[in-house]
Amino acid sequence: MQERMFNLNAPESPFVNGVVRYSSTAGTKECQNAFINILNCEGFDTSKLYVQITDGGSAGMELLLVGLCGPAGSDEKPLMMIDPAYTNYSSFAERVGRKTVTIKRKLSESGSFDLPEIGKIEDTIKEHNPGALLVIPYDNPTGQLYDRETLVELAQLCVKYDMWMVSDEAYRELYYKEDNELVSIWGITDREVPGIEGRRISIETASKVWNACGLRIGAVITDNAKFNNRSIAEYTANLCANVIGQYIFGALAHESKEQITKWCVTLKEYYKEQILMVYNGLKELEPNLIVSSPDASIYSVIDVRNVVKPGFDSIDFVLYCAQKGSVLIDGITTTLLVAPMNGFYNANEGEFNPGSTQFRISFVETIENMAKIPKLFVELLREFEAQR
Ligand SMILES: Cc1ncc(COP(=O)(O)O)c(C=O)c1O
Repeated sequence: MQERMFNLNAPESPFVNGVVRYSSTAGTKECQNAFINILNCEGFDTSKLYVQITDGGSAGMELLLVGLCGPAGSDEKPLMMIDPAYTNYSSFAERVGRKTVTIKRKLSESGSFDLPEIGKIEDTIKEHNPGALLVIPYDNPTGQLYDRETLVELAQLCVKYDMWMVSDEAYRELYYKEDNELVSIWGITDREVPGIEGRRISIETASKVWNACGLRIGAVITDNAKFNNRSIAEYTANLCANVIGQYIFGALAHESKEQITKWCVTLKEYYKEQILMVYNGLKELEPNLIVSSPDASIYSVIDVRNVVKPGFDSIDFVLYCAQKGSVLIDGITTTLLVAPMNGFYNANEGEFNPGSTQFRISFVETIENMAKIPKLFVELLREFEAQR
């Protein structure tokens, strides 16, 4: 990718004559092949898949809400999400006038986010008749991994209740426990879950595993020809995804399995080390903090419910850190920006929001800065509690 980026004058570059043309709305064949090559290298069968290139996975989210979730402004066929959930799906749903419903996971004392029993999930499905279920197997915001068995159970529900299964696989490859395996919606076979074929969609992106979030390249992959066709038709209003980005990401169509694997292993080791370092550091400094099990993606959740006084609100703490909280680290006055989790839960008015004592850490800073987090978080929290 870097080679292409630094050589936009190369004869095959879309920029070579100083003109960047539109591509077809579905994206260039090469960029489509880049996403397919990645899946192939990971060992998945791609023979029946259709790929549409979008401006980041985010543009894909909007497309699937429009395509799967009933008419705008109606409550029909909502998107079913699993709380705490990546908030941008709710934001896009609001933008395009589609409804969302949620089932809720609770953060246990040991740091796992547990799904409700299948019966409870079925009750929600029967009550709301969702058009699609959204899963983020390598999860944002919880840092949890949905193992293969869970994905299969959820796939069975999608077939039983005639829902689409949408899997946002932005962080596929980033899992950290030795006994886990690489999971994907594309690893579930029709033999295993009869009827799953033809109702699957994955959101893919250049952003996370490929270090290219500013490139704005993503994909909507499906095993349903009609969805692919209608989704491209809808996207013709956008004309096409950014063509220089497609060209740069298209480089991955030509990488070998060894190269793809080597890259993924390096990245995985990098994040694993960071996440374990912060997890262990927090637990050492304040054993009563609940920290989510460091299993997948690039996020950790801290719950302070066992160490704070009643009436704590995570938003107040974040504002305190931004406005006046500070800790001296290596002689420098330092503070911390974490995400309060209130917004990741769809709590009704007056209902307790578990996010009010929870925070999400994103592993997006330098190694040196990430290493400061345990001391910073614990000291800022103590400072905040002392003045309240
Ligand atoms: C689960 C998940 N999906 C999609 C995205 C957005 O990806 P993109 O940059 O491709 O729009 C993010 C970004 O944080 C994410 O966490």
